[in-house]
Amino acid sequence: MSNPPDQQPIVPEPLSAVNDFAHDAVLLQEAVAAVLGVKSLSHSKNEANNSLPKASGIYVDATFGRGGHSRLLLSQLADDAQLIVFDKDPTAISVARELARIDSRVTVVHDSFATLTDSLAAMGITQVDGLMADLGVSSPQIDDGSRGFSFMRDGAVDMRMDTSRGQSVAEWLMTVDEETLANVLYDFGEERHSRRIARAIKAMDSFDSTLALAEVIKVAHPKWQKGKHPATQSFQAMRIFINNELGDVDSFLEQSIAIIKAGGQLAVISFHSLEDRRIKQFLQRHSKGQYPEDEKLPMPPNRPRYFGKPKRVAPSNTEIAGNPRSRSAWLRSATRTDTAYQNEPS
Ligand SMILES: C[S@@+](CC[C@H](N)C(=O)[O-])C[C@H]1O[C@@H](n2cnc3c(N)ncnc32)[C@H](O)[C@@H]1O
Repeated sequence: MSNPPDQQPIVPEPLSAVNDFAHDAVLLQEAVAAVLGVKSLSHSKNEANNSLPKASGIYVDATFGRGGHSRLLLSQLADDAQLIVFDKDPTAISVARELARIDSRVTVVHDSFATLTDSLAAMGITQVDGLMADLGVSSPQIDDGSRGFSFMRDGAVDMRMDTSRGQSVAEWLMTVDEETLANVLYDFGEERHSRRIARAIKAMDSFDSTLALAEVIKVAHPKWQKGKHPATQSFQAMRIFINNELGDVDSFLEQSIAIIKAGGQLAVISFHSLEDRRIKQFLQRHSKGQYPEDEKLPMPPNRPRYFGKPKRVAPSNTEIAGNPRSRSAWLRSATRTDTAYQNEPS
């Protein structure tokens, strides 16, 4: 659905890019509105006062990328507000530092959002007004073949979001056994032919080319789907594994309960079902107070409800037409209730 002529979207100022690769922020207006706890950022030109009051407080963009969401959020924040941005990726962090140089409201953390509580505590922050994340990889990461995320461009088999630390996929493939590799392809890529593909990968002499790896997977894959490269799910699986993506998301979500103030907002965009399911179940559990393990008990305990009713938004047809990468995105958001956080295993 497009905006009616008098309801124009708000467009943030562009920031000079550190490299040539650009990222189209997905569900941009919707996510920023959600983290601010307002219905919409669009405003009518016919109204006398056509802008929302600027929000004060502390906000977190846990996945800065190229700063699309951050810059729109900053345009809605008051001069005394703070925006803390995280990213694992050194290039994303260079862009974030460039933004921080020209906007003193911005503080940059080069680390995983799984360090949320500790990183904020190091700045003397214990609670925030809004917390957002736009999960997964950015277009610049995929478009730069040398990062190893793409099976369409040749490069080193790396796939680390944080190239300053940790093991690359190539290093891992050298040592992993066939069964573990097959389990990773199945668990994180939902690849039904994981065993056959793992056998073919482990028969390779070296892992220095993404195109060579993709070709081996293609040949080993018995069922090609029209319009989808047969290495899609295997590449996704290795990327998720090497970056501990699901573990980081689980940790981030759990930490959000204590970090978000009563009345504050959580907004998370995901791009595949493994992530979306986790966010959906987390919000269901903590908004309904219903935990899966309670179902086995004769008298389910009274569990706290930390979030209000979750909302779910998908990209419009217009957005999908302009940015096909957005087609699998979901935005889920919820308002933190005033129930005090009890540090119990959930
Ligand atoms: C989809 S992009 C975000 C794009 C961003 N919203 C924008 O408008 O430019 C995801 C970003 O999250 C980063 N990322 C992924 N997992 C992360 C984690 N656990 N901690 C911090 N950053 C992470 C990636 O490096 C990537 O830059």
